[in-house]
Amino acid sequence: MSPANTVIPAPADLIAPALLAWYDRHARALPWRVSPLARADGASNDPYRVWLSEIMLQQTTVQTVKPYFEAFIERWPGVIDLAAADTEDVMKAWAGLGYYSRARNLKKCAEMVAVEHGGHFPASEDGLRALPGIGPYTAAAIAAIAFDHPAAVVDGNIERVFSRLYQIETPLPAAKVEIRELVGRATPLKRPGDFAQGLMDLGATICTPQRPACVLCPLTAYCGARHAGRQQEFPVKAPKKPKPMRRGAAFVAERADGAVLLVKRPDKGLLGGMSGIPTSDWTVRADGATGKGAAPFAAGWRDKGVISHVFTHFELRLEVFHAVVSDEPDHAGWWSARESLSGEALPTVMKKALSAALPDLFQKGVR
Ligand code: ADE
Repeated sequence: MSPANTVIPAPADLIAPALLAWYDRHARALPWRVSPLARADGASNDPYRVWLSEIMLQQTTVQTVKPYFEAFIERWPGVIDLAAADTEDVMKAWAGLGYYSRARNLKKCAEMVAVEHGGHFPASEDGLRALPGIGPYTAAAIAAIAFDHPAAVVDGNIERVFSRLYQIETPLPAAKVEIRELVGRATPLKRPGDFAQGLMDLGATICTPQRPACVLCPLTAYCGARHAGRQQEFPVKAPKKPKPMRRGAAFVAERADGAVLLVKRPDKGLLGGMSGIPTSDWTVRADGATGKGAAPFAAGWRDKGVISHVFTHFELRLEVFHAVVSDEPDHAGWWSARESLSGEALPTVMKKALSAALPDLFQKGVR
């Protein structure tokens, strides 16, 4: 049975008051967030912290982001500090977060804000979108959270909440336009940033992909999917294409003193500008170019097994080879001492490959 005050489909003007009252009591304490209580006392969100967190949170979970965010803020407390930082240090601090073009754009964006905007982020969505690495979602999130602009903020969590509230039968991603329109109508003029963050929290803690906790949901009386008992059917998603598999070989060359040969990957392309061990090309073909024959120089290469890593558009399987070399081969790159390896700008896939050859390297686990 549904409650007596059931109003379905959700009237736009009833969503924000119910959601904000819930957020006031249940907002997650996150290091980049000013609590609703402090906000009521007049505190505002620092645009630098909001921007940094939003860039880090693109494609990455809150749990993973927290320690990175705190390390960045401690080292570079303001946008001017980050603008003045060494790019290589920023890449090293980012290593493990993935999607490395985000780190390069982060640095470029900080420089642009410092030089062209006097160290202040623009407040409008258009102004924000003109900066490197800031797309429509991020611009809306920063405008709402840092500047209280009533921008329609729609991330994956919010898509799920709205697709259930309104039983949106159009599959994602085609439903995005419709959902954005509905979120726009529900967004209040007062506290739009808290509204957006409340929806994100609701999606992360109550309106979860599996087994949503509808009895605890502040919007349950307005939720079409709940009313119809169809929560699990939304959001409707277009079938995913299977990811193609690419293969390659990776080569861990170790010097007698334990140092490992690292190379810098080209600036453009996947993992651009990051460090790694030498690898063959990564290809969908399975031929000699993805095995030992692709070694960068002759050595006693021994097979250490295969590691796999899933990127956005493909899965990668790397066969890892290891050799101890007595004479330094003539090869680009540098020899990184064992103790320095954890401070290098090594993406997770490279840490996996290194760990296959040298299991005790990253004992605290691969991030
Ligand atoms: N995901 C993306 N941005 C977020 C935020 N500001 N709070 C919580 N989760 C988020």
